[in-house]
Amino acid sequence: MMKANADEIFKKRLERHHDELKWLYMELYNNDSMFAELCTNMYLFYTDRRNPLKKRDKQREENPGWFRKNDMLGMMLYIDNFAGNLKGVKQKLSYLENCNVNYLHLMPFLDSPKEHSDGGYAVANFRKVRPDLGTMRDLSELADVCHEKGLNLCMDFVMNHTSEEHEWAVRAREGDGEYMSRYFFYNNYDIPAQYEKTIPQVFPTTAPGNFTYLPEIGHYVMTTFYPYQWDLNYKNPRVFNEMMYNFLFFANQGMDIIRIDAVPYIWKEPGTSCRNLRQVHTIVRMMRMIGEIVCPSVLLLGEVVMEPEKVVPYFGTLEKPECHMLYNVTTMATTWNSVATKDIRLLKRQMDIVNSLPGEYTFLNYLRCHDDIGWGLDFSFLNQWEMQEVPHKRFLNDYFTGKIPGSVSRGELYNDDPVTQDARFCGTTASMCGIESAESEQDADKWEAAVGLDIMLHAYMLAQSGIPMLYSGDEIGQLNDYSYREDPDKAADSRYVHRGKFRWDLAEKRRDGKGLQGRIFNALNQLEQIRKQEQVFDASAKVYTYDVHNDSILCLTREMAGDKFFGIFNFADQPETAWMQEEGSYTDLLTKKTVTLRDLTVPGHGFYWVKRKN
Ligand code: GLC
Repeated sequence: MMKANADEIFKKRLERHHDELKWLYMELYNNDSMFAELCTNMYLFYTDRRNPLKKRDKQREENPGWFRKNDMLGMMLYIDNFAGNLKGVKQKLSYLENCNVNYLHLMPFLDSPKEHSDGGYAVANFRKVRPDLGTMRDLSELADVCHEKGLNLCMDFVMNHTSEEHEWAVRAREGDGEYMSRYFFYNNYDIPAQYEKTIPQVFPTTAPGNFTYLPEIGHYVMTTFYPYQWDLNYKNPRVFNEMMYNFLFFANQGMDIIRIDAVPYIWKEPGTSCRNLRQVHTIVRMMRMIGEIVCPSVLLLGEVVMEPEKVVPYFGTLEKPECHMLYNVTTMATTWNSVATKDIRLLKRQMDIVNSLPGEYTFLNYLRCHDDIGWGLDFSFLNQWEMQEVPHKRFLNDYFTGKIPGSVSRGELYNDDPVTQDARFCGTTASMCGIESAESEQDADKWEAAVGLDIMLHAYMLAQSGIPMLYSGDEIGQLNDYSYREDPDKAADSRYVHRGKFRWDLAEKRRDGKGLQGRIFNALNQLEQIRKQEQVFDASAKVYTYDVHNDSILCLTREMAGDKFFGIFNFADQPETAWMQEEGSYTDLLTKKTVTLRDLTVPGHGFYWVKRKN
C-alpha cells in the first residue's frame, strides 16, 4: 500500500470518530496533551500494522457482520494443557480443523509469576509471552498460520489489574508516587473501609476483602481479585493510554478477537459497588473507536459475568456500539439449572429475553468455560414456584456435587461463602452430565443416559442464536482432573478441576465410534456440519421458543427464507411428549427420516433437529 494512500485511510477513520472520541476522553480526563499523545500513537500502531492485517481490516470493514456466520465455532484452550507451547499449538491446528473450529481462544499466556498467576490473569509483562510457552514472535507466527487456514485467534486482555510483579507495581511498591498513582494506594484504612461497605467480594473465601496491606511501605492497595492482582486506576490517563497501546500491540500481533477480562470492574467510586459504573462504558466505547480507527478487523469480546440487565448495555447502542460480542452467561447457568430441576420454564423465559434483542447483538454460547458456574438465576421468577435463592442454590450445589439421591453429577464447590451461603460450582461438562460417576460405577445404563445428556446439551447450544464456544476436552467428554490438589500453587482454587491437561491418548480413541470419545466427537461433528450447511442456522434467522406444553422439553424454532427448523430438547431422564400439532412433514436432519410433529415422544435426554420439507 502506498504511504499517502495508507495515511488517507487512517485519516478518514480518525475523522469519523475523532469528535466523539475526544469528547469522551475530555469528559474523563480533560487532558489535551494526553489525548494528542493517544492520537499520535494510534497512527504509529496503524503504520506498524502488517499489510496482510490491513487487508483483513479492509475486507472486514466492508463486511462488518463477517463473524456472525453459521460456520463460526469457537474453542478455548490452555496452550500448555493442549500442546505444551505456542509452537506445539501450531502443529496441532489440524486437530482443531477436525473439530470444525475456526475461532481459537488461547487462554492467558503472558508472563505471569508461577505461584501467583491466577491462571495467567495476573500479568507481569504485557509485551512478553510466558517463557515456557514461547515468544511474541511465536504468537504472531501462529496468527499468520491461523489466518492462512481460516482460523481467527483470540486472547485475553486483562485490563482491570496487573500482577504485583509488573514493572509499575514494583516501582509503586518502592514508593514512586508516579507509579503509585496508577493503582489505588492509601496510607490508612479510612477510604478502604468506606469502599468495603459497598463493594461485594469476588473471591470471598480464597481472597477475602478488596484491599491488601503492604507493610514495607505502610500502604493499602486495592486488590479486588487476588492480593497479588493490583487494580489499575483508570482515573489516571497514563493508565488508559498505556493499556490502549497494549491493546493495539496485540492487535498488531494478529489477534482477531480481544477478550476484555473482568471489564465491569475497571472504574471505582467509593459508595458504589464498583461494578458497571458509567465510566466503564465510556472506556469501552473509546476502545471500540480506537480499534475501528487502527485495526477494524479486530473484535471486542466483553467478559461481563453479570445479570442480563447489566450485560446487555455492553453492546452499547446500534449507533454507538461497545463490544461486538458478549458471553451468554445467564443462559449458561440457567441451562444447568434445567439439568438439575428437569424444568425448562426459567430457561424458556431466558431464551425469550435473548431472542428479543436486536440481531446485531452477538452472544457467545457455551456450556462450560475455565471459570466456575455462579448461580446468577432470575430468582424473582423462580420465587413463584417457591424456589427461594438460598435453598435453591444449596439444592443446585448439592445436586452437582452428587449429594442428592439420583444425582449423577460430580464436581467441586468454589468459594463456599458461609456468610452469604453462596457457593459456586466447578466441573467439566462430561462429569456434570454423569459420565464420571457412570464410569466409576461401571453402570452401562447410567453411562448411556449421561452421554445422551452431554450430546443433547451440545445440540441445544448449537441451535441457539449466536456463536457456540466449546471448552477444550468437551469434544471428547473429558472428565474432571483432581490432580490439581497435589500442586500447592493450585490446590486452593477448585477451578483447576476442569482445567486438566488435554488427553491426547483419549482423543486418539475418537475414531472408535462406540467409545465415549467417538460417541461425543462424532455426534458433535455431525451437528456442526449440519449447522454449517443449513441456511436456517444463519445468524439472520428468526429464532424463538415454541411452547410444547411440557415443562421438561425446550423447543426452539428457527425460520429463514422459507425454511423452518425445530430443535426439541428433553431435559428429563425419561421419555416425554412434546405436545405439538405442526402441519406438514419434517426431515430429521440427523437420520434423514421423515417425522411428523404431532405429539412427538422424545426419549429421556433425547433431542430432535428437524426441518420442514419444502
Ligand atoms: C476473569 C477470569 C477469571 C479471573 C478473573 C481475574 O473473571 O475469567 O478466571 O480469575 O478475571 O482476572
